[in-house]
Amino acid sequence: MATENQRQPSKLEKPINGKRLLFFSLPLQGHMTPMLQLADILHSKGFSITFIHTKYNSPNPSNYPHFTFQPISDDLSEAETSGLSVFDLAYLINVKCVAPFRDCLDQLFSDSPEERPFAGLISDPALHFTREVAKSFQLQRFVLRTSGVGAFRAFSSFPLLQEKGYLPIQDSQLEELVAELPPLRVKDLPVINVPDLEKFYKLIASLIEEAKTSSGVIFNSFEELENSAIDALHEGFPAPIFPIGPFHKYFPATSSSFLKPDESSISWLDKQEPKSVIYVSFGSIAAVEEKEFLEIAWGLANSKCRFLWVIRPGSVNGLDWHEALPKGFLDMLDGRGHIVKWASQLEVLAHPAVGAFWTHNGWNSTLESISEGVPMICMPCFADQMVNARYVTYSWKVGVELRNGLERKNIERAIRRLMVEEEGEEIRKRALDLKEKAKSTLTQSGASFKSLESLISCLSSS
Ligand code: UDX
Repeated sequence: MATENQRQPSKLEKPINGKRLLFFSLPLQGHMTPMLQLADILHSKGFSITFIHTKYNSPNPSNYPHFTFQPISDDLSEAETSGLSVFDLAYLINVKCVAPFRDCLDQLFSDSPEERPFAGLISDPALHFTREVAKSFQLQRFVLRTSGVGAFRAFSSFPLLQEKGYLPIQDSQLEELVAELPPLRVKDLPVINVPDLEKFYKLIASLIEEAKTSSGVIFNSFEELENSAIDALHEGFPAPIFPIGPFHKYFPATSSSFLKPDESSISWLDKQEPKSVIYVSFGSIAAVEEKEFLEIAWGLANSKCRFLWVIRPGSVNGLDWHEALPKGFLDMLDGRGHIVKWASQLEVLAHPAVGAFWTHNGWNSTLESISEGVPMICMPCFADQMVNARYVTYSWKVGVELRNGLERKNIERAIRRLMVEEEGEEIRKRALDLKEKAKSTLTQSGASFKSLESLISCLSSS
């Protein structure tokens, strides 16, 4: 919800380098976090920031006193948003926010004495109405794509994948390699389980079009990690590409969580041995069935390893929280496990006690894990997570896959491979190598550093 202290931009602050930028994010955690981080990075380079946002899932302005926040009406009732899939939500916002977004720009432009008050707009390509609106204000538009480049490339290949018969996915083809998109197999393609596949394909096509017609696509990724996907995307893609991540490593990130992190996660980790804990979290959207939830619980318990488990309220279908856990489950563990509703994930992953991350491979989680050198147990649930998991396990070899049947035996096995067996040691070494690359890409000779410089020069030249 919007709060009282949101600053109204009736008088725009004077930008330090004469350049002011507009931002507009999809109001979901995995999109809002990197958008705010990007705004922070560009603010540190001298740009002034005006952050437009819906009232639904609005950021907390008091965490960003150096930005100007501009809420717009989204006309989304609680009844409409509760239980809505991400894709239905994106669809609704694309219908309901067009006029409020246009009105907002109208007001911002008329409030400014300058003819061209903004150097550009950086929006989420899933908000595909921003293209026409930006055009009508002659506003240069960049997009921040919050997935990895590999996943974006797979999305942009949907027409080809349909033509070649890979999509819609047939069960008989799951293990087949997609020759046009190595290293992906058919089962790694970024689809979701929705009743109306055509609507999903259309939304993806709009997202890609939105990116292609932009002045540049910004990625929270880095060349040293995704060089082959980046090279392949460059071929024939009409817009410049700016991989400038990992965003959260430029400087200590400000909290952008919609939920309050439970501080006991860190105090509990402080009491554990180095590399002894598996951190378990499936991001802000993914949900599991009750049966799977119980397999996870028993898999963790039977592994005999220590674990910090984020069970987000509502992340088990049909339940409020973790009421399906067997009575006395936590007591039986004798302190080996700690459960919270939300954690400060960046702090958790950087904690010396954490030895592995059991993740759904959302792109933010994947990159955050890579940046701390933490090996992963990969349990992708939908969309780009499938692609990310393939890169983690097959290309970068910094994780193990947990895909075929979520059963306690498979879970125990995956945990042992990482936490106990020699294979885990090898994986950990590679993860530490990648961590170094994630660090050095931001230094003066690194690819992200250079890419950020060219982005700044594009933004400054309008
Ligand atoms: C989604 C998609 O899955 C992702 O792939 C896409 O590119 C962006 O939107 P989500 O499923 O929430 O996001 O996963 P992820 O991308 O991993 O983002 C979750 C964010 O929440 C991460 O930045 C993570 O640090 C944060 N988080 C998660 C917490 O701070 N605390 C928690 O307890 C769990």
